[in-house]
Amino acid sequence: MADGEYPSVKPLSANIGEYDVIFLGYPVWFGTYARPIGGLLRAQSFDGMKIVTFCTFGSGGIEASTQDLQKKMEGSEVTQGFGIRNAFAERDAASVVNKYLIEAGYKDGSVDPLPAFGDHHVCTDEEQEIFHQACDDYQFPFGKPADVALREMAEYTEYEFNVVSAAGSSTVYVVAPKAEGAKPEFTRVVR
Ligand SMILES: Cc1cc2nc3c(=O)[nH]c(=O)nc-3n(C[C@H](O)[C@H](O)[C@H](O)COP(=O)(O)O)c2cc1C
Repeated sequence: MADGEYPSVKPLSANIGEYDVIFLGYPVWFGTYARPIGGLLRAQSFDGMKIVTFCTFGSGGIEASTQDLQKKMEGSEVTQGFGIRNAFAERDAASVVNKYLIEAGYKDGSVDPLPAFGDHHVCTDEEQEIFHQACDDYQFPFGKPADVALREMAEYTEYEFNVVSAAGSSTVYVVAPKAEGAKPEFTRVVR
């Protein structure tokens, strides 16, 4: 990456020109799409095509990699799809993909609309504890939660923590299931 290199990839076996929408999937590496995707884009034109991104990540979410692909693939219409933490991929990917396909209109069905987050307020001790339960066992520390906003769903509460650390500020999303004894988990960190 430091040398600006993109590993080459095997040529695609499908004729992508036959498809209306291309779902472009990758793991996130160093805050963006994995370098071999850059190799694919050198070898294969996606000009004029509709692209939907999807990815797995350790913590960092899909937003930055999609924005980078939108800049890199100027001739294509690149839309943000869905991302999931690698740690939850096996457990949750099927439902995350299904929900995305319905929301984006690729599949019939209905999903409950998400309510907006409430106002941000200074974290209470209880909210700090939820943050620590969700984040402290991750390999990298995120920093100290400063303020938080909440939204309530039927089965869980979602928290939007603004976090400060020596490296800067970030927003950490945590879900706390309402089921008895279920542990809060962070879903992504937006820097
Ligand atoms: C070289 C490398 C760099 C990575 N950098 C990031 C990163 O910056 N942010 C992040 O959230 N995850 C990062 N990860 C975690 C990967 O996104 C995660 O391991 C991957 O999505 C899992 O998919 P895979 O099993 O197909 O590799 C990195 C992983 C590797 C191997």
